[in-house]
Amino acid sequence: MEKAILSGSVSRGMTRVQEQDSLEELALLAETAGAVVVDRIIQERREVDPATFIGKGKVHHLARRVSETGADLVIFDADLSPVQVKNLESHIKCKIVDRSGLILDIFARRARSREAQIQVELAQLQYLLPRLTRRWTHLSRQEAGIGTRGPGETQLEVDRRAIRRRIGHLKDDLHKIERQRRLRRKGRVGFYKVALVGYTNVGKSSLLNALADADAFVEDRLFATLDATIRAMPHSEDRILLIDTVGFIRHLPPHLIASFRSTLEEAQEADLLLHVVDVSHPGFEEQIGTVHSVLRDLDIDRLPTITVFNKVDLLEDRRLFKDLTQRFVSVAFTSALKGIGLETLRLEIVRLLKEDEVEDEIRVPSEDSRTIAAIHRMARVVHKEYEDGVTTLRFWAKPMDLKRIHSLIDHQTTGFASGSRS
Ligand code: GTP
Repeated sequence: MEKAILSGSVSRGMTRVQEQDSLEELALLAETAGAVVVDRIIQERREVDPATFIGKGKVHHLARRVSETGADLVIFDADLSPVQVKNLESHIKCKIVDRSGLILDIFARRARSREAQIQVELAQLQYLLPRLTRRWTHLSRQEAGIGTRGPGETQLEVDRRAIRRRIGHLKDDLHKIERQRRLRRKGRVGFYKVALVGYTNVGKSSLLNALADADAFVEDRLFATLDATIRAMPHSEDRILLIDTVGFIRHLPPHLIASFRSTLEEAQEADLLLHVVDVSHPGFEEQIGTVHSVLRDLDIDRLPTITVFNKVDLLEDRRLFKDLTQRFVSVAFTSALKGIGLETLRLEIVRLLKEDEVEDEIRVPSEDSRTIAAIHRMARVVHKEYEDGVTTLRFWAKPMDLKRIHSLIDHQTTGFASGSRS
């Protein structure tokens, strides 16, 4: 195991407690990446030092702590510029990693599907490109003394070009996968889609398993889920798909948000969001804020949402429930682990999905496949019957879609009966 020292700083507009919280999360990230934390250092600093981020005095202090503890790396709770990393490494004489670098490292280990792997590699290369200096590249050749003299910058340019080419290839691959994903999604018409979103480690995968009797990957680690996992919710006559998504975290590196957009697109197409919250976490309110801001970035903050307060088995004081029920529009209290509150949540999901939907039945000539396909797109078909060249479809649809379906029928197939049933 590598030994790590964490370095945080309290900057303008921030309290020491907030930085301690953030460092607590950084420690969890470091452990997830396989390091053991041997020391934490917090400094108060109004201005960032452009050369070393923390300033000369702190650099000496850190160098001393590194030699005293035998640390292998120092992890900064911020994003450092390539120059700062270079200067810090040369003074402190150990590996320097920043918050984005650490998260990318974890993502790289967690990626399982080809798509997630490509997304992570893409994000890593985009992160690496501006940080590429001679120290980063062709190290073995430098040690041998070859290629270190003369036009070193040329080698650097060759490396940069190679990375850009690789980025191009990866993007092409990703486009292909995204096309396939879109096709698969088309196959899911007629299903309600419910996406689970939330901070990392709150219990999304556990809840998905509990609701769907499925075996999604559950682990007490950050970011166990990188690929959207999709399961059907059983025991309901309504066809409901549950979609697990990547966990959110504060200061998620921007290249990562960009590259995981396609996984999160699953959430964008959802009819309903379950915003899962670990109510036993002392910082759960702040985590809710982070999730809301990511949802806003993705433009899905207006979807109907149930805020699911999970891990209630760890709570002793239940007075909190009343306060939360008053503050959020639609809430559920669950323990995915102990199976508490699941049935109520299931009913609430069905209730919200069906809110203002109406059931209808329509008869269409069986050869009119275009109209039949259009109805499947706009509504949730629950029953289909063929008789004498006529197809009878029973379905649920929102009033708007119902109107569109009726005008379609009126235009294309006169003489066929339809009637609203509720
Ligand atoms: P990411 O994939 O990182 O986004 O995590 P996640 O939100 O999918 O969380 P996951 O389901 O992997 O659960 C994280 C940890 O919390 C695991 O150790 C679970 O066993 C635990 N956990 C989940 N639900 C509950 C619960 O209701 N009560 C308790 N006590 N622990 C829970």
